[in-house]
Amino acid sequence: MTQDQLKDAVAAAAIDEIKPWLERGTVLGIGTGSTANLFIDRLAALRDDFKGAVASSEASAERLRGHGIEVFELNSVGTVPFYIDGADEVNAHLHMIKGGGAALTREKIVAACAEKFICIADASKKVERLGEFPLPVEVIPMARSYVARELVKLGADPVYREGVVTDNGNQILDCFDFMIDDPVAIEARINAIVGVVTNGLFAARGADVLLLGGEQGVERLP
Ligand code: 5RP
Repeated sequence: MTQDQLKDAVAAAAIDEIKPWLERGTVLGIGTGSTANLFIDRLAALRDDFKGAVASSEASAERLRGHGIEVFELNSVGTVPFYIDGADEVNAHLHMIKGGGAALTREKIVAACAEKFICIADASKKVERLGEFPLPVEVIPMARSYVARELVKLGADPVYREGVVTDNGNQILDCFDFMIDDPVAIEARINAIVGVVTNGLFAARGADVLLLGGEQGVERLP
């Protein structure tokens, strides 16, 4: 199977996971990226079975609206029963690196408001130790150089993702050569640097369920 077929298989599995719980008033939290897009495309068939969605990016909001799914402001919704999103890396504890699509801050905010975070990923995303994928850090533009120097002190090799402006008007530093032994501690440590909006470690609030697509089918963890 191709990677896209594996992503679509987990998107389908996520539909099966949430379908029994959908009610007329349900507002879902929806992530960003190619796997989330496949989920959105499948969700379109169920659009009359729930109220709408909160999106973690302008791109996902546009895709949802394109399918006739109403998009709500998070402030008007409060909590969502499910947040469904992909990941760039995920470990056995369901800690993740996210933000390859630069949507990490809004993803983290919607995830924080979710009763259940369902991570959907193809098997290539599962790792023993997080960090092979460069960890994204969203920064206030004027703080970029300062934050980069602080990240070097932590052992990372930060690289400015040129030409990318987040939905929040900020910039991204990608931390290369930064293997992460203690995701909870590193997440908090980086977030404590002045000028950091947030970083792409989702460890303090990891996923609750991982649907992992491999050649043998979709595995559900834990
Ligand atoms: C975007 C993300 C995505 O979830 C992550 O990059 C995975 O993307 P894809 O499903 O395209 O592999 O965090 O900011």
